[in-house]
Amino acid sequence: MESNKDAKRVLITGGSDGIGKYTALGLARKGYAITLACRNEGKGSKVAEEIVAITGNPDIDLLIMDLADLDSVRRAAAEYRNQFDRLDVLINNAGIFIADLEKTAQGYEKQFGVNHLGHFVLTNQLLGMLEKAPAPRVINVSSHMHYGGQIDFDNLRGEKPGYNGIKAYAQSKLANVLFTREFARRYPHIACNALHPGAVRTRFANKSGGLLYSLGWTLVKPFLISVEQGAKNSIRAASDPALSGVTGQYFDPRKGPRYPSRTAQDPDLASRLWEWSEAAA
Ligand SMILES: NC(=O)c1ccc[n+]([C@@H]2O[C@H](COP(=O)([O-])OP(=O)(O)OC[C@H]3O[C@@H](n4cnc5c(N)ncnc54)[C@H](OP(=O)(O)O)[C@@H]3O)[C@@H](O)[C@H]2O)c1
Repeated sequence: MESNKDAKRVLITGGSDGIGKYTALGLARKGYAITLACRNEGKGSKVAEEIVAITGNPDIDLLIMDLADLDSVRRAAAEYRNQFDRLDVLINNAGIFIADLEKTAQGYEKQFGVNHLGHFVLTNQLLGMLEKAPAPRVINVSSHMHYGGQIDFDNLRGEKPGYNGIKAYAQSKLANVLFTREFARRYPHIACNALHPGAVRTRFANKSGGLLYSLGWTLVKPFLISVEQGAKNSIRAASDPALSGVTGQYFDPRKGPRYPSRTAQDPDLASRLWEWSEAAA
């Protein structure tokens, strides 16, 4: 495959592993030009080389960005704006689950900081690039775990004692859906949707889920769907012509669009989270 200057441009966060890597691979097969936004340069460049070798698509770039540091996110977005003239699809895919309290460079609870706030800043920094594409799409990889989530505005820096990793993860994934709906309301000309990828056999909870969660994840892994299957919902959201113009939805991998939680449908909460995130960034 030769380099194609007219190819649609996709930027995917967390393209160095798991669902993100296979989403990038699937879209590279379809001829999209891909920017893998990764925190680890060595790991990211290996994946980029692998995707080029498998697909023959040479248009695979690397952008170094740590979502746990908003300065790094701003620098990466500026680099992207200098290098390219538009962005057709932004896939906010990177995510973490951690069992014990950790903080971002700016002092926010880390799951909220990486899974929501880093992506909030990235998306806003790339808004102008999206607006230059003819039919732009933003995809936020959330989770069914958002159904149990609440936003505790008094604990977003992990101020309260007794950290609960699962609760913090559910909160961050609820924030993904609220962000999606508020973005869709503010920018109706940019299609923005959230999705659940399925329960997918990645190394997700093995990374910093602590011994208990890591062991539990290892035990359930044989029952989870493959990472290729887990990438399907993101690939479809990014590329299916039938979804052109569809916005503000939450996609289930088996059922298509479905209602997110009642909390996720609260427009006042979505607007409050947006304003809070703007002030925090
Ligand atoms: N697996 C599931 O069953 C499941 C279910 C529902 C939703 N999800 C969601 O799906 C998304 C992908 O998860 P996955 O299962 O593919 O996990 P994964 O295999 O652990 O991949 C996560 C990706 O995020 C990147 N990442 C983590 N912290 C980052 C940071 N600070 N800055 C930049 N990149 C960072 C990782 O980079 P490294 O390669 O450097 O670690 C990796 O590329 C997440 O948003 C997750 O919440 C997963």
